[in-house]
Amino acid sequence: MGIRFDSVTVRYGDNTVLDSLDLTVEPGEVMALLGPSGSGKTTALRAVAGFVTPAAGRVLIGGRDVTALPPHRRGIGMVVQQYALFPHLRVEQNVAFGLKARKVPRARIAERVSEALRMTGMERYARRYPRELSGGQQQRVAIARALAIRPGVLLLDEPLSALDAQLRSGMLAELARLHRELPDVSILYVTHDQIEALTLADRIAVMDKARLQDCGTPQDLYRRPRTEFTASFVGNANLLPVTVIGDAVRFGGTELKVPVDGIAPGAAATLCVRPHLVGLGEGPNALRGTVAEVQWRGATHRVFVDIDGHQIKADVRELRTPPALGQQVAVHFATQDAVLLGAGVADG
Ligand SMILES: Nc1ncnc2c1ncn2[C@@H]1O[C@H](COP(=O)(O)OP(=O)(O)OP(=O)(O)O)[C@@H](O)[C@H]1O
Ligand SMILES: [Mg+2]
Repeated sequence: MGIRFDSVTVRYGDNTVLDSLDLTVEPGEVMALLGPSGSGKTTALRAVAGFVTPAAGRVLIGGRDVTALPPHRRGIGMVVQQYALFPHLRVEQNVAFGLKARKVPRARIAERVSEALRMTGMERYARRYPRELSGGQQQRVAIARALAIRPGVLLLDEPLSALDAQLRSGMLAELARLHRELPDVSILYVTHDQIEALTLADRIAVMDKARLQDCGTPQDLYRRPRTEFTASFVGNANLLPVTVIGDAVRFGGTELKVPVDGIAPGAAATLCVRPHLVGLGEGPNALRGTVAEVQWRGATHRVFVDIDGHQIKADVRELRTPPALGQQVAVHFATQDAVLLGAGVADG
């Protein structure tokens, strides 16, 4: 079942924490809500779940206006950051909870519980109490509990943020598998982790300051960001203030060949180039400066180069002889690897 936010506004007092959100999650789609702390992600989720009432706008699930429906009648499953299992109930009772509340017949409850535990790989733990489980196992139970009611819509609020990095990556793969098993369920996945968003989502909605800033496929947002915020939040970005001159731009005294895409000559713009697309040494679109910092990252080196008061990061394959601090170097990038953002302010 799809989800639609139709100009949804949420206020606490006179503080607008969600500002006219328009967003559609297609049936079976995984939509990540990505944004910094306080940007309104959880609030958006809670509006779908029915735990907050919009000051304006409508929420639709499966085409039906649910804005006035109580949470338990919306057919959603929800998983929050801190597992929130009932400590005095066994795993199977936790998973059965929503079914009992919905007065599902007993025999069917047993069936659904074992199905949900199977899907999350937790059958063997049915008789345990939450305190007898690891964090990752508890989060699986929370997911099983959300799935047991066979929701049309699954809301996940930073479900992996309490787990360590290794477990997180394993659970990420499991969520992807789970979604393949449930291809009709729409998933709204809140995260501030861009790797989770890039890995799992069909599309990413980027939020900042109560507003939707951008929305697109991961590849789209990464390769063709439309705003500086998206460019720096989805992946790493070098952002340089430039001035458009015909079919090129000027950065300080250097002319750079980049796709100008109809931005008027004389306009200030921001040039975005991903660090892994910046090469060290001379080449087309070369800029010269001094090495400010070199970080060894195992498979790569990240070299920071100061150029006219700006800094460019180049992520290059591990160097045999990394440049010395203060050394004069050139960096360069290919024309097709640059993206010009229109709304920037040039200062040079
Ligand atoms: N019950 C509440 N009463 C008043 N203000 C609230 C309430 N819940 C959230 N807020 C405010 O609304 C804003 C958005 O909060 P929200 O929880 O949606 O952010 P978020 O994007 O989920 O952030 P995080 O990544 O930290 O979880 C914040 O400024 C927060 O302080
Ligand atoms: Mg939140």
